[in-house]
Amino acid sequence: MKKHLMTAIAAAAITMSATAGAVDADKAIEYRQGVFNAMKWHFGPMVGMIKGKIDYDAADFERRAKLIAALAQMPQEGFAEGTDAGDTDAKEEIWENKEKFDQGMKMMVEKSAALAEVAKSGDMAKIKPAFGALGKTCKGCHDNFREE
Ligand code: HEC
Repeated sequence: MKKHLMTAIAAAAITMSATAGAVDADKAIEYRQGVFNAMKWHFGPMVGMIKGKIDYDAADFERRAKLIAALAQMPQEGFAEGTDAGDTDAKEEIWENKEKFDQGMKMMVEKSAALAEVAKSGDMAKIKPAFGALGKTCKGCHDNFREE
């Protein structure tokens, strides 16, 4: 009896760890899209301030820059193996060229951290190019890896 129970527990443990390792594609897609939408939420008012359509509020700009720098670290894990199919605009090329894609993620992390740093100065002459550099990482990756 005892031996059977132990075997059953061991088997259950193996099944559980196997499930924990696999990523649910739908959840991963929702996760990464959610993170990107959160980034966009903050990006919008920042663009407005850069273009002078919204009054520049240094503290608010800095707060949003910090949040984007934190969010930038999040989407990558949502592009796990096997999450290419579903309600997604992600192109197959991501998984065929994962190194280049991951490099793009890394650039976004770096440029958003640089922007958050520069935002502290409140100096638009420094903020504008840093913001532009970050925006380029978004566009660069979308052009290559996201469906129109
Ligand atoms: C390294 C690649 C990469 C970078 C960098 C990147 N994106 Fe994306 N983005 C994607 C991909 C791929 C999708 C499609 C995700 C999906 O539909 O599963 C996407 C989707 C989006 C979406 C749409 C989400 C939805 O609801 O479908 C928004 C908004 C977005 N990105 C904003 C941004 C912003 C803002 C930046 C820069 C600050 C950025 N992205 C940087 C690859 C990237």
